[in-house]
Amino acid sequence: MAIKVEPKPMPAVAGQDSVTLQDHSTGKKLDLPLLTPSVGPKVIDIRKLYSGLGYFTFDPGYTATGSCDSKITYIDGDQGVLLYRGYPIEELAEHSDFMETAYLLLYGELPTAQQKNDFTRSITYHTMVHEQLTTFYRGFRRDAHPMAVMCGVVGALSAFYHDSTDISDPHQRLVASYRLIAKMPTIAAMAFKYSLGQPFVYPRNELGYAENFLRMAFAVPAEDYKGSAVLAKAMDRIFILHADHEQNASTSTVRLAGSSGANPFACIAAGIASLWGPAHGGANEAVLKMLYEIGDKKRIPEFIKRAKDKDDPFRLMGFGHRVYKNYDPRAKVMQRTCREVLDELGVHDDPILALAMELERIALSDEYFIERKLYPNVDFYSGIILKAMGFPTSMFTVLFAIARTVGWVAQWNEMIEDPDQKIGRPRQLYTGAPRRPYVALDKRR
Ligand code: CMC
Repeated sequence: MAIKVEPKPMPAVAGQDSVTLQDHSTGKKLDLPLLTPSVGPKVIDIRKLYSGLGYFTFDPGYTATGSCDSKITYIDGDQGVLLYRGYPIEELAEHSDFMETAYLLLYGELPTAQQKNDFTRSITYHTMVHEQLTTFYRGFRRDAHPMAVMCGVVGALSAFYHDSTDISDPHQRLVASYRLIAKMPTIAAMAFKYSLGQPFVYPRNELGYAENFLRMAFAVPAEDYKGSAVLAKAMDRIFILHADHEQNASTSTVRLAGSSGANPFACIAAGIASLWGPAHGGANEAVLKMLYEIGDKKRIPEFIKRAKDKDDPFRLMGFGHRVYKNYDPRAKVMQRTCREVLDELGVHDDPILALAMELERIALSDEYFIERKLYPNVDFYSGIILKAMGFPTSMFTVLFAIARTVGWVAQWNEMIEDPDQKIGRPRQLYTGAPRRPYVALDKRR
């Protein structure tokens, strides 16, 4: 597989290059430095813009704005490349495992055998949750969406683990990070069990991360649980694919919440809330709902037509991405994993998979999608796999949250350790009423 970028482990630096802005109304000029990343386009440093020219910039949705410098993840959206700490996602999905990938994202390098062993043991040590937390679940309705439960329970961790909320203490930050990564599968499985009305299943530390999660989700006390190595491997790979994705909405939410000094559990709860939306992590759930709504290959043209109609809010879920203007590299791995899982489960002619593949084929040959560079994203196939494994659609985004916790935690730590870190505080283009005097009630019309 051809990867066109060769990242070098060097920090973003102000090179000699600069751009000059000229204000034609005053004739004033301002030189702004160009920062050179290790890979990717240069970035204009606009920090002196307001003091130099008296202007702010306007960029709703941050389509052209870098909010931080980061060494963790790189995306080349035009080429369809995703690198974690420089390593292509396809290679990690093929050769690595989730614990190793988590170590890589957190520490910047692949672990040695000893480091991997120690890290995995440390994570394993934190898999149980405070027993009192089980009563917290009982406050939720059984039919609560598990993402609602996750937001509440993860936010509540700060009320249970007081000894890891001091963000100025590196040891406490480390313990909080390990706790979050370790407890997310337990918390997610408990949310699932609660919705089913089944007893919670405690973690088993001799099992791998994904294997343990599947057991906590699907084992019942009434019978022996027989896990599948193929499904555990697929789950592990899905976790790798979702582990980080640079400054996406939920990661930016975590960073923004953390920039005020909020504790890590509160920050990750904020990230979960942001991930829930259908334009972000909630898309995997929306894809499956859409496929069922389409129902039959014959109805695909009707839905393609709707997706192209500007007066219809319907969008083809699992298609398009803010950054990828090419095939999402995660979607390719996901498509392969989908086949492996369905084979393992003996599903040879899944109509929903056949429908998805036909929809992809038709959309990719349609001028509207070609012109706008709309390709399948990571969520297009993940729902089919997760459904086949036995998860209801409401759990799909929860599984995304388990994996993305590693990225959130890595990005949060990077932000806290950055000496230039400031509270995140965007400016605005105010379009409201200018200053005006208060009008007494009897004078209002
Ligand atoms: N179906 C139909 N048209 C689309 C779609 C779609 N899925 N996505 C984008 N477009 C059109 C959009 O209408 C616009 O057309 P025009 O230029 O004529 O106005 C053009 O493509 C550009 O779209 P945009 O909304 O400006 O792009 P964006 O970068 O703001 O949005 C997106 C990115 C992911 C929110 C969007 O593509 C979308 O809503 N996709 C469906 C939801 C989805 O699958 N989300 C998962 C993203 S991947 C997982 C993750 O990272 O969280």
